[in-house]
Amino acid sequence: MAPHLTGRSVQHLVELEHGRISREIFVNEAIYQQEQEQIFARTWLLVGHESQIPQPGDYFVSCMGEESVILTRDRRDHIHVFLNTCRHRGMKVCRYDEGNTTVFTCPYHGWGYATDGQLVGVPYYKEAYHEALDRLQWGLIEVAQLANYKGTIWATWDAAAPPFLDYLGEMKLYLDTLLDCRDGREGGSEVIGGVQKWCMPCNWKFAAENFAGDAYHNISHRSVDLVGIGPSGRGRRDTDERSSARRLATSFPALGHGAVSFLQIEDVPYSPSYRDTPEVEAYFKHCYEERQRCLGAGARLLGLVGTVFPSMSYLARQPRSIAVWHPRGALQTEAWRWFLVDRDAPQEVKDVLRHYAMRYSGPGGLTEQDDMENWNYASAASKGVIARRYAYNYEMGLGLPYPDYGLPGVTTERIAEQNQRGFYQRWAELMEAPSWEALASKM
Ligand code: FES
Ligand SMILES: [Fe+2]
Repeated sequence: MAPHLTGRSVQHLVELEHGRISREIFVNEAIYQQEQEQIFARTWLLVGHESQIPQPGDYFVSCMGEESVILTRDRRDHIHVFLNTCRHRGMKVCRYDEGNTTVFTCPYHGWGYATDGQLVGVPYYKEAYHEALDRLQWGLIEVAQLANYKGTIWATWDAAAPPFLDYLGEMKLYLDTLLDCRDGREGGSEVIGGVQKWCMPCNWKFAAENFAGDAYHNISHRSVDLVGIGPSGRGRRDTDERSSARRLATSFPALGHGAVSFLQIEDVPYSPSYRDTPEVEAYFKHCYEERQRCLGAGARLLGLVGTVFPSMSYLARQPRSIAVWHPRGALQTEAWRWFLVDRDAPQEVKDVLRHYAMRYSGPGGLTEQDDMENWNYASAASKGVIARRYAYNYEMGLGLPYPDYGLPGVTTERIAEQNQRGFYQRWAELMEAPSWEALASKM
C-alpha cells in the first residue's frame, strides 16, 4: 500500500527513531487518500454532543472524515448516526445544519426516512415499484458502532474497531478533565451557542499534533497576552491556576492520543480569575471548593489541551471547547469548534464564558488565529518540490528517560515532542495495518 508519488512505504516517511517526518505526509494527495481508507473509515470519530439533540426528532448534521452524517434522536429516544445520503441516487437527505423532523425527505425523488433510519416513504410505491421494493433493505446507512461518553457522541464505520473505552484507554483521565463538571461531578456539560465552522489551508494533522501537546509554541501567542483577552476581558489570556503547578505532557503511543495537563504539587488555595464579574468569580470559587471536597488529591490534576486520535482536540480549561479537524484534501481542513459549559451553571456564568470563548478560540478568536497563521504558512512553504525533499524535525527530547509522576502514559515535565512522536507512531501503524486484528497486538 505504498503511496505512488513517493514510492516508499509510510513507515519510511515517519522515522521516529531519528525524530524525522517527511513533509510528504502533509502535502501528498495519495497519502491523503490512503488516510481516508486507513484512518477515517476505521477509527472512532467525534460526531457531536447529546445536548445538541435533546428532544426526539432533533438532528444535527455533522461529518466523519469527508462523509456528511446525521446525528439524530429517534421517537423512542435512541441516538443514531446515519450517512447523509439517499439510498436511491445518493442525494444529500438533509441539507440543514440542525433542526427537528419526523421524516428526512430526500429532495430529489422524495424517498422519506424516519429518524430511526427506516425507509418509510417511497413516492408511487404501487404504480412505479409494484410494491416489490423491499423497504427494509433500503434504510439509511448507519455507523457500525456508536458511543455516548459523558454526553459526547462518537462513532466508527468499522464493526471490528475496539469498543470506544478500549480505544480511549487511559486517555480517559485527561478527557474527563474536559467533560466533567467544574465542581468535580462526572459529566454534566452542555454545548453553548452554535458550532463554529471554518476552513484552513493546511493539513488536518497540523492542528491535531499541535493540540496533542505542542508546549514549544508559546512564543506564537505573545501578542495575545499583550492585548489582554483574559477571563474578565483583560489581562493574560488564561486562568491563573498554572502558577504553582507542573506542566506535564503525556503521550499514549500505542493509541496515538496525547495530552497536556497541570499537576499541582500540593493543595493550593483558589486563585481568582474572574475579578471583574463577581457572580462568575463566586461560581468558580464554589466549584473549586466542591471539587477539592469530591476529588481530594485527584483535584490537583487540571486538564489543558489534548488530542484523541485522530482528529478530536480539546481545551479543558476555560474557555472549554472541543475541536474536530475534518480533512478536506491534503492542504485543506475544515475546523469545527464546540464550546462547553456546566449545564447547571447560572446564566451569567454561561454568558461570560461565551464571550470569553469568542475572544479566545474559533476563526475570530485571537489565540486560534495565531495557531492558524502558523499552520497555513507552514503548509504553503512545504508543498514545493524542493521543500518536500526536507523532513520536519521531531527530535526534541528524543532518547531521554521519562520520570514516574504516578500518572498513566509516557509523561514528562520537559518541553519535548514525545506526544507528537506518539501521534505519528500510531498514524503510521494504522496507515499500513490491514485490520484492527492486525493492530491489536500493538494496543
Ligand atoms: S435520490 Fe433520493 S429519492 Fe432519488
Ligand atoms: Fe496555540
